[in-house]
Amino acid sequence: KKNEAWSARFSEPVSDLVKRYTASVFFDNRMAAFDIQGSLAHAEMLQAQNIITAQDYADIQRGMAQIKSEIDSGKFEWLLDLEDVHLNIEKRLTELVGDAGKRLHTGRSRNDQVATDIRLYMRSAIDNILGLLQDFRLALLDLAEKNADTILPGFTHMQVAQPITFGHHILAYVEMFGRDTERMQDCRRRVNRLPLGAAALAGTTFPIDRERVARTLGFDEVCYNSLDAVSDRDFAIEFCAAAALVMTHISRMSEELVIWMSPRIGFIDIADRFCTGSSIMPQKKNPDVPELARGKTGRVNGHLIALLTLMKGQPLAYNKDNQEDKEPLFDTVDTVIDTLRIFADMAGGITVKPEAMRAAALQGYATATDLADYLVKKGLPFRDAHEAVALAVRTCVEKGCDLSDMSLEELRAFSSLINEDIFEVLTLEGSVAARNHIGGTAPQQVKLAIARLRNQLS
Ligand code: ARG
Repeated sequence: KKNEAWSARFSEPVSDLVKRYTASVFFDNRMAAFDIQGSLAHAEMLQAQNIITAQDYADIQRGMAQIKSEIDSGKFEWLLDLEDVHLNIEKRLTELVGDAGKRLHTGRSRNDQVATDIRLYMRSAIDNILGLLQDFRLALLDLAEKNADTILPGFTHMQVAQPITFGHHILAYVEMFGRDTERMQDCRRRVNRLPLGAAALAGTTFPIDRERVARTLGFDEVCYNSLDAVSDRDFAIEFCAAAALVMTHISRMSEELVIWMSPRIGFIDIADRFCTGSSIMPQKKNPDVPELARGKTGRVNGHLIALLTLMKGQPLAYNKDNQEDKEPLFDTVDTVIDTLRIFADMAGGITVKPEAMRAAALQGYATATDLADYLVKKGLPFRDAHEAVALAVRTCVEKGCDLSDMSLEELRAFSSLINEDIFEVLTLEGSVAARNHIGGTAPQQVKLAIARLRNQLS
């Protein structure tokens, strides 16, 4: 096949460099199974519509079965000269079954063929990702459940804000990955439409039955405009946007894991199988997995921008630019899948250190808001209560003590409304238990939220 021209239309073959430049076979061959699936559905329809014979269809089925086994066993020879996955498979089919193979492309173009392949590939990738999001959320629920009443400081501006439960903190991520799940499900609806039948751009002169092909391939409906069908890549962009948010949530969590594992904080430890050492410093155990996930988020964000930029200047209908959709898309799929798999496993490898969390929550006046709320409940307007507590905190800062270290007499200097019952309010347990409403940090609410989420996930 070396140095053959494209067709009789050409007087010379493309140069070797151009061949390499225009070929996609070495990355788009990952769609081979979907290419075969799409071709078989197309051939079945051609036969049902009497466009090819039953014998042709049987030959195509036989050839494709052989090709599939060659690919699965690694024996299939992918040729650069045949440009892409589609031409490689079609050529081999013709080698195996002769004229029937040459009839397969009737009423079809690589333009609608590739769009169909990508959608089949993405549907399967999304289903895979949805399963992994589910596993990950279940693993996080286990972690939250074990720590429904483990107290740590909650931060705003990275300054101690109020005591919270670690379970509640983890459930915040379960919410994020829940929205990611919804986005993936929604994206899937627009992925799951059939472009095949659009042919090159205008449709075909053959009496095809697109709805039949859609049913065979499990698509919800057909793409209704042939020009749009071959040139639409919105679904790929939507997917990358949803994936970028998955990674953004992973990245935020990673940042927290890294901080929590730092010895200066020491809130958690991560199982050794997710960490690596140093080639020079023997004492080191580094949280490489979360760090790398944080880094890979940049890649995935980049892929989203790459696809948006790829599409913005394209006139209708198909342009070769579109071949550039695949590597960003595939890398996004691979990155998200690997990351979610590792994180679902890693969630079970997190050891919580409640004493360190508690010690940190006892510093930084985390219960100052509780004192202010206490005064409001005794009748003081909130702004006045805020100011009285601010003065109390300032005094504590000067003395180097906590609010709860002050005597009742000392506290009463800031408001005569303060009584003996204040010391209960200033405890960490009292503080979290008091935030007992839907969405609050109280252990009771955390348990209710976990039950609701488990129910939703099963
Ligand atoms: N390999 C091509 C792609 O990925 C297939 C479609 C090519 N069509 C064409 N007319 N060049 O988009």
